[in-house]
Amino acid sequence: MEIKNIESIKKFEGPPKVIKIFSEEEIKSILKLYESLPVTVNNKKQNVIKKRWLQNYNKTLDKIYSSKLKEILGEFEMDNLKSETGEDFFGLFHESFAPLPLHVDTGFDENALIYKQIVTPLIEPGDTVFFKKRWYKQSTTFTNNEEELNFKPKPGQNARSKDHLGEIEFDKDMHAKYLSHIDINNLRGMEVEMIYNWKVGESLIVDRTHIHCASSRLNKRKLGLTTFTKRK
Ligand SMILES: [Fe+2]
Repeated sequence: MEIKNIESIKKFEGPPKVIKIFSEEEIKSILKLYESLPVTVNNKKQNVIKKRWLQNYNKTLDKIYSSKLKEILGEFEMDNLKSETGEDFFGLFHESFAPLPLHVDTGFDENALIYKQIVTPLIEPGDTVFFKKRWYKQSTTFTNNEEELNFKPKPGQNARSKDHLGEIEFDKDMHAKYLSHIDINNLRGMEVEMIYNWKVGESLIVDRTHIHCASSRLNKRKLGLTTFTKRK
């Protein structure tokens, strides 16, 4: 799948930004909400627990979250799937016990004007590594493993690709420090745009077209909230 309207998507692209959106109290409320939500995915292979931010568990917090995002992003729509009753999920909580591989979260709708992704750390330490390279096809996991490349995704599953690869060897020090969970040959030609060191109390606003992954720096578990957005 190739995304349409690439030019219109590019117009709203820019550098990643770290900002403080939520107060300490609000972060506590978000953590409490997380505890109260049902588990949607418990993926033993990826070692991750996912929960969706369902509306109406804490209506005040729902309001705060969407209005604060609106202040920062301007006109936007949530793009995190919808509930059976058609209500937007407000984000995806992601509790991981092992670092996530190289991927992009561009979604599965070729007509969507994909916009920003908001990452709000809830349990440190952790980092998200964003690469300069961007991707204008559906959500994809990047791999140089031939077997993995044969994977045929079902609807809603990430495609697999090695088209991110280039010629230049990846920086060895950077690999050792942050990316030891990824085969260094799977980073050929990749350059780091930004390493976001998670700090509770901050949020990162970043374009959805950036290829990224978690760093290997993880202390038992990390927990973050990610919200995907699109424009009208
Ligand atoms: Fe991601």
